[in-house]
Amino acid sequence: MPVTTEPFGTTPAGEPVDRCVLDDGAGVTVALLTYGATVQAVHAPGRHGTTANVALGFADLDGYLKDTTDPDGSAYLGATVGRYANRIGGAAFELDGTRYELPADPDGNLLHGGPGALHTKVWQAELPDPDAAVVRLSTVSSDGEQGFPGTLTVAVTFRLTGTELSIQFEATTDAPTVVNLTNHTYWNLAGEGSGDVLDHIAQVAAERYVPVDEAMIPLGELAPVEGTPLDLRADTVLGTRVREGHEQLVRARGLDFTYVIDGEPGTLREAAAIADPSSGRTLTLSTTEPGVQLYTGNFLDGSLVGTSGRMYRMGDGLALEPQHLPDSPNQPAFPTTVLRPGETLRSTSVYAFGVI
Ligand code: GLA
Repeated sequence: MPVTTEPFGTTPAGEPVDRCVLDDGAGVTVALLTYGATVQAVHAPGRHGTTANVALGFADLDGYLKDTTDPDGSAYLGATVGRYANRIGGAAFELDGTRYELPADPDGNLLHGGPGALHTKVWQAELPDPDAAVVRLSTVSSDGEQGFPGTLTVAVTFRLTGTELSIQFEATTDAPTVVNLTNHTYWNLAGEGSGDVLDHIAQVAAERYVPVDEAMIPLGELAPVEGTPLDLRADTVLGTRVREGHEQLVRARGLDFTYVIDGEPGTLREAAAIADPSSGRTLTLSTTEPGVQLYTGNFLDGSLVGTSGRMYRMGDGLALEPQHLPDSPNQPAFPTTVLRPGETLRSTSVYAFGVI
């Protein structure tokens, strides 16, 4: 069976949540939740055939409900994030002459769509091709939700082909709006709960990144990575970079930056690759998005207990979030995130698992 579905609990509002497992018979499996269109687990074989769960997550729905409604901030483990992933400075933007106010975090900005955003919805699941390992999850965000204009219809299709997972977003609106969607899976190729990812080797195909202010809001320009600890163009052990006293890294408490991926946005191109030397597991990310937020789990503080019953501490996962650049609605020089009626937003990212 390429897709198996089982119940995963019920939300406080009484909505049943399902867990769907994709298996294309090639050794990799991907477990998805209809809650938050979330990647709950990904099992991948290592060098000696030993399989591990390489995605941070929770064992039960309660874990997700507690984290996604935590007033001190969520970790967004595996979640689909929107309507605007990452930050909008000042929690406000102007579109076609109208100013829209959004829910502000303690820094006064919008983060990841705000409380009650897409990562907390129970999405509708469909199996568009029962003979393939594919699940399509969809939801509707009503006009004015979290302050955003327009009724937004969003679908995310997860397809496992051999050992490659593709995540495809589609969105339409009935009024002009701004949209930035991503998947927020944290990877640990040695297995979630096994420790930190600082010995992972990473490479990111980006000559430029988005420098930020103290509140992690873009300064406006795109800066070269050359000569900074953010330069990941060659294979780099993450642990050699995350403690560099560079002003940008200190602000982010490690790596938590949007890399502007080389090449043409809109075309699927290789963006990042990571490898765990101990298990031999590798992951290569390609995307059509202009950027990838690379985040070394700097805010994981031991307060979350993951799927295997071990706590997640700082650096225990690496999020690679394909997306538009942060604060684009207030940054005229950045690629636009405006979506208008009659247009369809389409975005594809492919996560290819391998072994060295
Ligand atoms: C993103 C942000 C981080 C943090 C996490 C969620 O990666 O860039 O600063 O907010 O999400 O904890």
